[in-house]
Amino acid sequence: MEFDRTLIKNQCLINGKWVDSTDNKVIDVTNPATGEKINQIPHLTENQIEEAIQSANNALPAWKNTTAAERTKLLKNWLQLVEKHAHDLACMIVEEQGKPYAEALGEVHYAASYIEFYQEEIKRISGDILPSPFPKSRVFINKQPVGVVGIITPWNFPIAMMARKVAPALAAGCTCVIKPDEKTPLSAFTIIALAQQAGIPTGVLNVVSGNPAEIGNALCKSNLVRKISFTGSTKIGKLLMQQSADTVKKLSLELGGNAPFIVFEDADIEQAVEGLIQAKFRNGGQTCVCANRIFVHKDILAEFSDKLQAKVKAFKIGNGFEQSDIGPLINQQAFDKMLYLIADACDKGAEITTGGKPHQLGGTYFEPTILSGVNNKMEIFSEEIFGPIASIISFTDTEEVIAMSNDTKQGLAAYFYSKDMNRIWQVAEALEYGIVGINRGAISSAWMPFGGIKESGQGREGSKYGIEEYLETKYICLGE
Ligand code: SIN
Repeated sequence: MEFDRTLIKNQCLINGKWVDSTDNKVIDVTNPATGEKINQIPHLTENQIEEAIQSANNALPAWKNTTAAERTKLLKNWLQLVEKHAHDLACMIVEEQGKPYAEALGEVHYAASYIEFYQEEIKRISGDILPSPFPKSRVFINKQPVGVVGIITPWNFPIAMMARKVAPALAAGCTCVIKPDEKTPLSAFTIIALAQQAGIPTGVLNVVSGNPAEIGNALCKSNLVRKISFTGSTKIGKLLMQQSADTVKKLSLELGGNAPFIVFEDADIEQAVEGLIQAKFRNGGQTCVCANRIFVHKDILAEFSDKLQAKVKAFKIGNGFEQSDIGPLINQQAFDKMLYLIADACDKGAEITTGGKPHQLGGTYFEPTILSGVNNKMEIFSEEIFGPIASIISFTDTEEVIAMSNDTKQGLAAYFYSKDMNRIWQVAEALEYGIVGINRGAISSAWMPFGGIKESGQGREGSKYGIEEYLETKYICLGE
């Protein structure tokens, strides 16, 4: 598919300049659909990472003192450029991430929706006046930007997760050092180049790439960085939390999930199957809110499974530019994980009803799979699958399925299908999750607070709650 390749950025941004590594080291970027190298990005030195942090710190005083109206105007300019180049950005995502073009374009609009939401939210950042407990004094509550933010984004939504963090940070008056995932940096670099083109001042946004562990450590250890916002695995989230302890940073962590998807016996089965297709197979199963354990009441198991199989067998697998429904997995490691989880489940008694093996296209393409007879002894019950495997577990009663659903360290998203109002409230309140979708498989939106509890992280992204993560509350007491 044709697109404007001259827009692609493959350098890092430090203090307003797009730069290579001073020691000329590079990291290859490959297309997961073909395995071909498509570009290369800088592997910055430690000194360059420090320069990026310093640049964000130098830009902070001026940026945090811009008026709300100025920031609104600049975010609006950015939004317009992202929308203008939606097709170009979508093509970059397909090439480096592998998702189908329609989903990539959906991701660009999803990214744009965060910029749109937060350019509007700027005018609602407001403080408070509280009654004073002290004689002859007044109490004011101010909201102020946190300061320099270290932003670390994942490969599964390279620009949507970027916009979800950068837009509220800018809206609040923070400056940023951003590290996109090295597997999918091009669309991320490019959307930041569009922000620069939109007029975001020099030094406010800095973009780095290199050794992820070194960059994470440098951001966490720095006294200049006041907050880390990270989307990725629970393992890395815990490490960043430890590394941030010395400087007591504010943290937003959007980590792994293990979403239950429960279908009760009174559910609309067609609707539940449709919802599962969205909740399980979006982005080839590579999202942290993907349905991971599908609990189906035994009375409707056969009908539900037949309907699901028919849909899954109809999926077109292929290159994202070829009108496919599911693209390749991101890399060999992800592919090997599918083989491992399926082998482990089958060894312990699960059955493959559909798929279950590498796809004939080769590379990291994997057949969309349905496993039945899954139980909590299998790795797939507790591991985040992050791929196109639907694992089905049958259940008989409500208490039992709530207990099984909560039997995990994660607590990001949960879904269930039922028409019974009493049950709906009982289950929604009992599920230990930050997000609960009822009779819906698609729950993500810039208008809503996205985030988890337990080991799925802390903090919320999106909505009026999301901007609070980039603001400090200051109490000012004025005596006479
Ligand atoms: C994620 O997988 O990290 C985010 C998914 C979403 O925003 O829906």
